[in-house]
Amino acid sequence: MHDAETYHKFTLLSCAGAKEVLIYVKDKLTWNENENILDIGCGTGDITVNVITEYVPSDSKIIGADISDEMIKFAENLHSHPRITFKRMDILDDNLWTSWNKGQFSKIMNFYLMQRIKDSRKAYSNMYNLIQPGDEVLMMFPIKQDLDKIGPYLARMSKYSKYAEELSKITVHFTPREDHVSYNCDLLESLGFDLILCKEKVVSCEVPSVNFIIELYGLITTLSQILPQDLFQEALEDSKRIVIDNKILEQTENGMVYNYTILIIIAKKRC
Ligand SMILES: C[S@@+](CC[C@H](N)C(=O)[O-])C[C@H]1O[C@@H](n2cnc3c(N)ncnc32)[C@H](O)[C@@H]1O
Repeated sequence: MHDAETYHKFTLLSCAGAKEVLIYVKDKLTWNENENILDIGCGTGDITVNVITEYVPSDSKIIGADISDEMIKFAENLHSHPRITFKRMDILDDNLWTSWNKGQFSKIMNFYLMQRIKDSRKAYSNMYNLIQPGDEVLMMFPIKQDLDKIGPYLARMSKYSKYAEELSKITVHFTPREDHVSYNCDLLESLGFDLILCKEKVVSCEVPSVNFIIELYGLITTLSQILPQDLFQEALEDSKRIVIDNKILEQTENGMVYNYTILIIIAKKRC
């Protein structure tokens, strides 16, 4: 997912989720003067600039970093902030230390990153080395999504039979598991973090239309890689019907709402 311009259309959802989390955790984090904050997997930088700055001390410096050069260029062109810079970083890099220093940051944040990371151990281990003892990592990522119902429905349709096996396995989280809470908590503790918070939370976000959520689904899953272009477009149309028939969006007085479950973690590097 390196299409920064398309992703940017959906950041109102991620910004709303990040804001809800930061309001919830702000007082659970320890704040000092001159914080050096890394927002890893910053994407288009909207959360970095428009949300994080509202909830951290005003003298903090923030680096928004992402594996995608396209995202970093887009963020640089879109935003200008005296205390924020954008740089490329792959949090799975085995050799981060040619460009970055151990203990360089006092806080690491990431929003909607870890569901896309296949090697959580490597990512957490790099995060551990990027901060000092006593410093904290805050992360949030979706762990349960009703959108995951779409793939198995498509897989049962005869026109997609050739791709049924892959379609049946499509999930928004790249490494789906039943035990996200214990898996992540155990892993972080084994790497030398103390857990300040590890909590599931249901997030509700208003969405303007079914088309909107389906376009997002097409962008954040592997559907477009599994199907040829013509079938991909047809599958998006079918996905709309699946969303409506299965009431994946809730109709409220204010419009349509999508509910999903996130995991929020605050992990502190042991002293
Ligand atoms: C779903 S987007 C979230 C963007 C932003 N945090 C937001 O919530 O709007 C995930 C981002 O993580 C980035 N990403 C994926 N793997 C990464 C890695 N190994 N290191 C750094 N960034 C990565 C992607 O390029 C993408 O911009």
